[in-house]
Amino acid sequence: MGTELVTLASVKENEGIRTLIDMANHNLEVMGYTEHGIRHVSFVSRATSEILHELGYDDRTVELGAIAGWVHDIGNAVNRCQHGITGAIMTYQIFSKMNMPPEEIALIVGAIGNHEEEIGVPVNPVCAALIIADKSDAHRSRVRRDKYDLNDIHDRVNLSIKKNFITVDKERKVIRLFIYMNEISSPMEYMQIYMSRLILCEKSAAALGCTFELVINGSAVNRKQDISVSEEMLKGEDIMRGKKVDY
Ligand SMILES: [Fe+2]
Ligand SMILES: [Fe+2]
Repeated sequence: MGTELVTLASVKENEGIRTLIDMANHNLEVMGYTEHGIRHVSFVSRATSEILHELGYDDRTVELGAIAGWVHDIGNAVNRCQHGITGAIMTYQIFSKMNMPPEEIALIVGAIGNHEEEIGVPVNPVCAALIIADKSDAHRSRVRRDKYDLNDIHDRVNLSIKKNFITVDKERKVIRLFIYMNEISSPMEYMQIYMSRLILCEKSAAALGCTFELVINGSAVNRKQDISVSEEMLKGEDIMRGKKVDY
């Protein structure tokens, strides 16, 4: 009797993991952070797997990306500080019990343990895709409705973002993050709080053999001079369009 591969579906059904995601979100709410619950991990799971799929990685690597995205923030159930590392250790134990092969666990814990911008390095493709997916999830739906504060720059920036999506230009090897903000905040404020995350996104795209471009309200912010981008390309297709994100 062979062992069955751990799937995203089985990870989503795992009550222990679900409880850790809910508790991580609760703890961050108490600390005043934006939403980090099922909505966030659903987005990150789907975006990580779509980036890997678009770049031609095999189906199992794509699924491991989806799994890593689902569990990447469970360390916040312990503490916000070093949550990538605690989350990786917790994930090792959970997936060992689920009989995931050691080489798959190793890939996922490396990805989770490196997703924080303070200490993260895109050590493998799943990690690189996870970082880009995670750092791209700035959106007004992450602001907690009953507790936001317009004097807080994080709340202002997130509330201002009405639309965010990622595209993958396979031919030119460019991963683009599109952000559409309204007047509640500004691209300058977005850059102020996202700069270190964007630099890690550039490194992560490079690890995937791509460049990373940020496009805010239709303007390319960090376009490399040697890459010509037409107006047509800046209207790129959302890789997740039409795909269901299950909450
Ligand atoms: Fe995180
Ligand atoms: Fe996250």
